[in-house]
Amino acid sequence: MQPCRLRAEGLLDPVGLGEARPQLSWELESDRQDDFQSRYQVVVSSDEARAAAGLADVWSSGEVLSPTTFGVEYRGPKLQSGQRCYWAVRVWDADGAPSRWSEPAVWEMGLLRPEDWVASWIAPPGEVSAPVQDVPPRVDLGDWRGVRPCYLRMGFEARGPVARARAYVSAQGVYELWINGARVGTDLLRPGWTDYRIRIPYQVYDVTPHLQAGSNRIGALLGSGWFCGRVAWEDRVYGESPSLLIQLRVEYLTGAGETVVSGAGWESAPAPLLWSDLLMGEGYDARLERPSWCCADDDSTGWLPCVVVQPPAAKLVAQVAPPVRVLAERRVTGVLGSGIGRWVFDLGQNFAGWVRLRCRGDAGTVVALRFAEALNNDGSLYTANLRTAAATDVVVLREGETVFEPKFTLHGFRYVEIDGLPGSPDPDVLTGVVAGTDLARAGAFECSSPLVTQLQHNIEWSLRGNFVEIPTDCPQRDERLGWTADLQVFLPTACCIADVHSFLTKWLTDLMDTGRPDGAVGDVAPLVRPNLFGRAAPGWGDAVVAVPWFLYRTYGDLRLLRRCFPAMVGWVDYVAAANPDRVWRYQRGNDYGDWLSVGADTPRELVATAYHAFSAGIVAQAAGALGEARERDRFVALAEEIRAAFAQSYLTPDGRVLGDTQTGYALALAFHLLPEGLRAAAGRNLAADVRRRGWHLSTGFLGVAHLLPALGGTGHFDVAYSLLEQDSFPSWGYQIRQGATTLWERWDGRTEAGVHADTMNSFNHYAFGSVGVWLYEAVAGLAQCPDSVGFERLLVHPHPGGSLRWARAYRDTVRGRASVSWVRSTNRFELEVGVPPGADAEVRLPDGSEAHVGSGRHRFAVTEQGA
Ligand code: BGC
Repeated sequence: MQPCRLRAEGLLDPVGLGEARPQLSWELESDRQDDFQSRYQVVVSSDEARAAAGLADVWSSGEVLSPTTFGVEYRGPKLQSGQRCYWAVRVWDADGAPSRWSEPAVWEMGLLRPEDWVASWIAPPGEVSAPVQDVPPRVDLGDWRGVRPCYLRMGFEARGPVARARAYVSAQGVYELWINGARVGTDLLRPGWTDYRIRIPYQVYDVTPHLQAGSNRIGALLGSGWFCGRVAWEDRVYGESPSLLIQLRVEYLTGAGETVVSGAGWESAPAPLLWSDLLMGEGYDARLERPSWCCADDDSTGWLPCVVVQPPAAKLVAQVAPPVRVLAERRVTGVLGSGIGRWVFDLGQNFAGWVRLRCRGDAGTVVALRFAEALNNDGSLYTANLRTAAATDVVVLREGETVFEPKFTLHGFRYVEIDGLPGSPDPDVLTGVVAGTDLARAGAFECSSPLVTQLQHNIEWSLRGNFVEIPTDCPQRDERLGWTADLQVFLPTACCIADVHSFLTKWLTDLMDTGRPDGAVGDVAPLVRPNLFGRAAPGWGDAVVAVPWFLYRTYGDLRLLRRCFPAMVGWVDYVAAANPDRVWRYQRGNDYGDWLSVGADTPRELVATAYHAFSAGIVAQAAGALGEARERDRFVALAEEIRAAFAQSYLTPDGRVLGDTQTGYALALAFHLLPEGLRAAAGRNLAADVRRRGWHLSTGFLGVAHLLPALGGTGHFDVAYSLLEQDSFPSWGYQIRQGATTLWERWDGRTEAGVHADTMNSFNHYAFGSVGVWLYEAVAGLAQCPDSVGFERLLVHPHPGGSLRWARAYRDTVRGRASVSWVRSTNRFELEVGVPPGADAEVRLPDGSEAHVGSGRHRFAVTEQGA
């Protein structure tokens, strides 16, 4: 057995942690069956060689008799700002044999005390940042006026060879860090998005290789981003103009050191970017490029002194989530339309990002790029669904070749219209650049059905297009907000695909930042329009309960659960206080109900009360996990009361749920709101509704995730498969038949008649993709047992059905990889299962037989009746 993939705070070798006691974790590799970690030892050292040899000069955990491989807290002496900790781990296997020491890993602390910051916040002078938007005639940005992005820089002398250098950087806005003519790192849209009125993240970069003895220059490109650009429907939500904070700590080989800071002595000049905004797009004049703007010897003119501005009142916090990065590039798959100098390029996939333009033309030629997810029936760009997001990039060409790639904008699109391109439309003029939060893949699902495989593909691309700094509803229109219900229903699916632990740990802070003293949280996080979205709706606010609990079950992060617990309790108490008879009648905020259901209207009060019961039940379980016995008892009782009120108000003795809708049944079954004796009848009623609708679904955002599990869970797998493989309207398959490459916001986003008339019509919204987890758990059969945490006990229970001949899935759990693969032929069913060390599995086979296995690989084969 060997420990591998060491992580601190869920991240590989992170630089700039803010946690006083970082949590450490590792995975195990073992080629033996039935293996588990019986003991571990962690050593933390001040240098790498020592850690590699298992020597601890900072802290040793000692030999700990425990199977725990995650959430192990550093318990050594208080960590200092900038401290670098090398660490290694060794483990003992089931027989007590020790492993080798792992490859060493490292983490480094950020700036832990406010007084560690000695830099000043600076901004370009008004003359430099004045907007330039008059690039007629091809762009109409209405009356929108942005701030012009600018360069800020300073030269300094390094008094000898540099041993180590760190840049600590933040901005109100978005920045790129540059040193000596080169960009530092590959992170995009830093410092990221939080409620900047409360907290502002900073990043730490190891810039040692960028510095040289003698003259150096450090600088940044600074834009508006979320801080003072357009967010949803508003401009300058957090401030009027951007500012920057940089603190560079340099240590020389001689042992001496110094700190270079933003403040007096910095200068600023306009960048070739004329404007740049996440929603509106970017304007760029290639004739204004200054390639050497951040080189040590640049002697260009036109630089004006920066101004020192008031520091923000918000707290500077260490970044905890992975950054947005370029994830992939895509080639053009077709050039579709043509007009006079106007072409539509197809990138073959709906995604979030932008394009790189490479072309030649006369200096001063204006090329405009417009972005869209779909085309109208006449082949023109469908942009009505972008609403006020102009999503237009404009490039003024230079002499010779122009290469343009925007810096601080993001589009959700598949098609690009180019207007003004000189010459013929060579497909290589454009390259698609896919951007998103750089999350490690954590699983995959495949099966023999091309339709279901395409569905899985679409789900993954909707995740990629919407997990961009925060989990958003959509990447294209003037919205792109952290809608809580969307994430809450999609989370179990997201966890199958990507490691979202630190990404959502950060977002939960954003969500808790929306909290009010009475326990209400926002519909969206970070919060915008507090008067409208400040008190969340049923199913939306419940994210503050559902998300921490689900992350706990997936990643075993008890610390996160503990931190969220007060907000979880606060939310359920807030609802309970307003609804003493336990039916959630009052305080339902904007009450979106089962949003965007189709042909069915589930009573909103019923949806709300079901969610109230669900959340109260989770808080009870969370209290149990945290050892909060009094709270556990209180919420067990509350959940019971709500269930009783639900039964009394909405259930009939023959297993009908008021309204007789699929969502009503799905929620009642998923949230255990039916007495045991009525579950089967409710399942039959649900199945009957699907049949009545000609094997179609009617669920909206809140019902859809629970529909197939409710059918399967009451023995109607055949009905569940008929919905999964349905391709007439409304269904997942119908979207696919209409050419979807991501999940749509509405079932009728596009029909034979054309695109939906409403402008609220995103083609990249993941809520309906919440079916994804069912593919892993029920189709492939890879789940964890209901009371298991961190995949300690797998539940392997495949349900072959529909047209499927085979399916396979894996998940990289906190213990290592778990996998399932099955094939069925005429009357034989074969299954292969992989169980990571430290876990075991309940295996249930289609013939009703069961097995209990430990870690390792296992094969099963049974004869199927009637297969
Ligand atoms: C968003 C959603 C959100 C909903 C609330 C829409 O505008 O795009 O995804 O959950 O509003 O009803």
